Amino acid sequence: MLERVQQVGRLAALEAGKILHQAFSQPQKISWKGIKDPVTENDIKSQDIIVHLIHEVFPRHRILAEEKSSSAAAGDDPAFCWIIDPIDGTVNFAHGFPMFMVSIAFEQEGEVRYGVVYDPMRDELFEAILGQGAWLNNQPIHVSVIPTLDQALVATGFPYDISNRLEETLQRFSRMLTLAQGVRRPGSAAQDLCYVAAGRFDGFWEENLKPWDTAAAALIVTEAGGQLSTLDGSPFKPTAPNIVASNGRLHEQLLAGLRI
Ligand code: IPD
Ligand code: CA
Ligand code: CA
Repeated sequence: MLERVQQVGRLAALEAGKILHQAFSQPQKISWKGIKDPVTENDIKSQDIIVHLIHEVFPRHRILAEEKSSSAAAGDDPAFCWIIDPIDGTVNFAHGFPMFMVSIAFEQEGEVRYGVVYDPMRDELFEAILGQGAWLNNQPIHVSVIPTLDQALVATGFPYDISNRLEETLQRFSRMLTLAQGVRRPGSAAQDLCYVAAGRFDGFWEENLKPWDTAAAALIVTEAGGQLSTLDGSPFKPTAPNIVASNGRLHEQLLAGLRI
């Protein structure tokens, strides 16, 4: 079954990516979920095509998708769930800043077994299968071997509700600005995590992400040899309130630097 899951997940990510690539840099119709939290017409189009392609093959699988859309309603088998972010990096997409991803995870009995994250602007397809490895465009990927924070390029992101947690967020950010070689904030958590998996970043942390931001890319990190936890060092799961990802070697240093 996992082979079929991979075919469907991959096709859905590529088809959604095609829509986003075509729509990129065109004027977007935008509505708002919160003061700074936009949803474009293409978030919905992307989600609808993904759900449609999944349900064509697996009509009973449940869907956990970010956007409210009638297509996400069906599916009643509690054993299987697809977790979808149709555009991770909507603010970037809406501004014509070409850093955004399509993210799709497949969960069986509560465990993510397959994840795919697609970057339509660079045609980069990141994938992982539980226990089998992680790939970028079919080539195996591995986390970096950077051993210390002062040699590390790390990334973070800021939640939409940052005003509720400004002080801690800035404290962690300023700590990392002094400890790490460099800190980046590109604007797509799924991309940040895939870049840890591919050794482009050595670490990443963020608070208040949702399962659709992390489910697929978290598997890609661990299958690429990386390590995940929450900020207090406990095991990460997609429903956790925060995430720390690293190449493993740096994990304890990263956690210590982020402790406030
Ligand atoms: C957002 C991105 C961003 C992160 C935000 C997320 P969205 O997802 O992953 O990098 O900082 O917390 O909500 O809204 O573009 O799907
Ligand atoms: Ca997201
Ligand atoms: Ca999104």
